[in-house]
Amino acid sequence: MATATTAAPPVTADYSDYVNPQWERLLNLLQMNVRYIRCQGTELHTESGDVILDFLSGYCVHNIGHNHPAIIQALHDELDRRGPAMLQSHIPDLAGTLAHRLCTLAGGKLRKVFFACSGSEGVETAIKFSRKFTGRTPLLHAKGAFHGLTCGALSLMDDKFWRDKFGPLLPDVAAVPFGDILSLRQELSTGKYAAFFVEPLQSEAGIQIPHQEYLAEAAKICRKHGTLLVIDEVQTGMYRTGTFLASHQLNVEADMVIVAKALSGGLVPVSAVLMTDPIYASVFDSLKRSIVHTSTFSENGLAMRTGLATLDVLEQEQLGPRALAMGRRLRTRLREALSGYEMVKDVRGMGMLSGIEFQAPSSLKLRIPFTAFQHIHEGMFGQVIVMRLFRDWRVLTQICGNNFMVLKVAPPLVVTEDQLDHFVEAITAVVDLMHSSTSFWSEALGLARRIVNV
Ligand SMILES: Cc1ncc(COP(=O)(O)O)c(C=O)c1O
Repeated sequence: MATATTAAPPVTADYSDYVNPQWERLLNLLQMNVRYIRCQGTELHTESGDVILDFLSGYCVHNIGHNHPAIIQALHDELDRRGPAMLQSHIPDLAGTLAHRLCTLAGGKLRKVFFACSGSEGVETAIKFSRKFTGRTPLLHAKGAFHGLTCGALSLMDDKFWRDKFGPLLPDVAAVPFGDILSLRQELSTGKYAAFFVEPLQSEAGIQIPHQEYLAEAAKICRKHGTLLVIDEVQTGMYRTGTFLASHQLNVEADMVIVAKALSGGLVPVSAVLMTDPIYASVFDSLKRSIVHTSTFSENGLAMRTGLATLDVLEQEQLGPRALAMGRRLRTRLREALSGYEMVKDVRGMGMLSGIEFQAPSSLKLRIPFTAFQHIHEGMFGQVIVMRLFRDWRVLTQICGNNFMVLKVAPPLVVTEDQLDHFVEAITAVVDLMHSSTSFWSEALGLARRIVNV
């Protein structure tokens, strides 16, 4: 075990005073408030000399690793050329080149791109475009989804934690259980929906992978009832699951696909909504409406340049096939190591996006502390695992946003075999401690109480 140095948390008074004091307090309690001075590949170097392994990737932003030299070079090149970054009155040629490449990689009937600055903004775009194209208002989504926290995107999520006290959100929105074709067919047969929004695999819901035919079947039903199929690949795209889009492994062609996060190498905000020609044309349908939907930073030079450089890296370093092979190996090793523990329910995933699902214990010895935990806060159990991995093993992870019993495992696609082995050793040790040590639970309960009382 390699315990991270427990230095005093960095002094960040301005952040606390002027940004988010609650976030700082939470990180302090979890003993995860360290100052990073250099991040490279999978490694996060701290001021006190520790090296933390990143198994979170900023929620699937850092697919090519932190600060990839090719992206830094691309940024330098773009700045050095002193080109028209955001004139709002010219043709940004790099946007054309990037759009062409994205459409070629996505394949099928996706032939146009709208660029935006975040996943949520991509979802907002898809909401507007699907309404304009179909002339319908209602929207359908899958339960447990995570589509972003702007008001439109949030309307497509049912989790109370995110929605509470921010309403009223969009009206005319309904949800069906993820993976349930019968419910989808029934709902879409009303013929009233503009679009069905769905993730190919639900990441924040706990790495939920639908059965192989689900999305292809969903596409057929959507087509029959004139509803657009919008696939949110914000987390799963850019080779995270082994192929450019996770949809490529699920035999489905969408009407719109949203990618973001990893698209620009983790350094410049960007997202892209890929769609068919007719959908795009329905929005920009006259000269007068040629900029009827736009965004100030859309198509900006730095984002477009880094987007192109990121695709180069992903292709040259063959990170998709690598994610497939190494992700499979990781899950095999995790299953071998964790299979004997009663609180481990499942290990699953696609490519380099995996989840370890925990469950309530059946033995009395573990049930008592676990139940006490659940009474304090249902999210705390997972947070203690995250804290232990960080503090005792120098591995950064997070639990899923909509399913606190699943630990997400998503390192950069450049992660090495040795780093994956370190993670397996780390999580096995933490799980073993949880099953064998009373001090694990007493420390955890103390922490949980402190956090809830903050
Ligand atoms: C699947 C999915 N869609 C959309 C979003 C929203 O993206 P952003 O945070 O860039 O707005 C996220 C963010 O985590 C996501 O995971």
